[in-house]
Amino acid sequence: MSNTTSHYYSRRQFAKNMAALVAAAAVSKSSAVFGEPQQRTYRLWRLYVKNTLAVTAIEDLMREHGILYRLLLIYEEIASQLAAGKELAPANLTDTADLIRRFVEDYHEKLEEDFVFPRAEKVSELYELVKVLRIQHQAGRNLTDAITRLALRTSPQDPQNQKKLAEYIHLFIRMYRPHAAREDTIIFPAFHDVVTADEYMQLGEQVDARETQLFGEDGFEKIVEQVADLEISLGIYDLTKFTPAV
Ligand SMILES: [Fe+2]
Ligand SMILES: [Fe+2]
Repeated sequence: MSNTTSHYYSRRQFAKNMAALVAAAAVSKSSAVFGEPQQRTYRLWRLYVKNTLAVTAIEDLMREHGILYRLLLIYEEIASQLAAGKELAPANLTDTADLIRRFVEDYHEKLEEDFVFPRAEKVSELYELVKVLRIQHQAGRNLTDAITRLALRTSPQDPQNQKKLAEYIHLFIRMYRPHAAREDTIIFPAFHDVVTADEYMQLGEQVDARETQLFGEDGFEKIVEQVADLEISLGIYDLTKFTPAV
């Protein structure tokens, strides 16, 4: 694992540790020497575990938005290089579009469409917002198709192609920043109110299973590494470069 993600704490490892601790606490509870202070500790611990696990599914989706925001920054850099007429390594663009297709559109958005939106749109106040979000998912897929088609053309350095590519990328960024921000601030918080604790736990397991099915073990970490490789290739990995000198 690279330095960029070595600090990342695997959700599966976290769940394993939690399960082991809960099992240990359950054994303690059943023992004859389990007194009041231990019972209180046990109750607090169960409460902690319940609350911690209860945020897992939405935390997952928000973390995936973190990937999306990094991909949007990569797109922004690519668009500005295209607009400046700079020669761009074609793989930077096609790899970014491919990550967006595989991770954002075919995985993250499918999770939202399959598990989150159907519940959220039952809340009358959220119905219109979900409708817009669904339309934007399709618009994003259309843009990714168009960007990929243009990027794969034989003469990617053609000025007309570059201009059109920069335009499509700009439209993509412009739509997805507010899109993800609405999900983070309205849809995901509301989701807590429309599912039971059991459904929430099940959703976490379904998200996990789908992530493993599509990206293998430690799929999220692998995607983070691919994003970091693109950032390094474009010269925008170093976070200090974004700190203003004021
Ligand atoms: Fe979405
Ligand atoms: Fe999203």
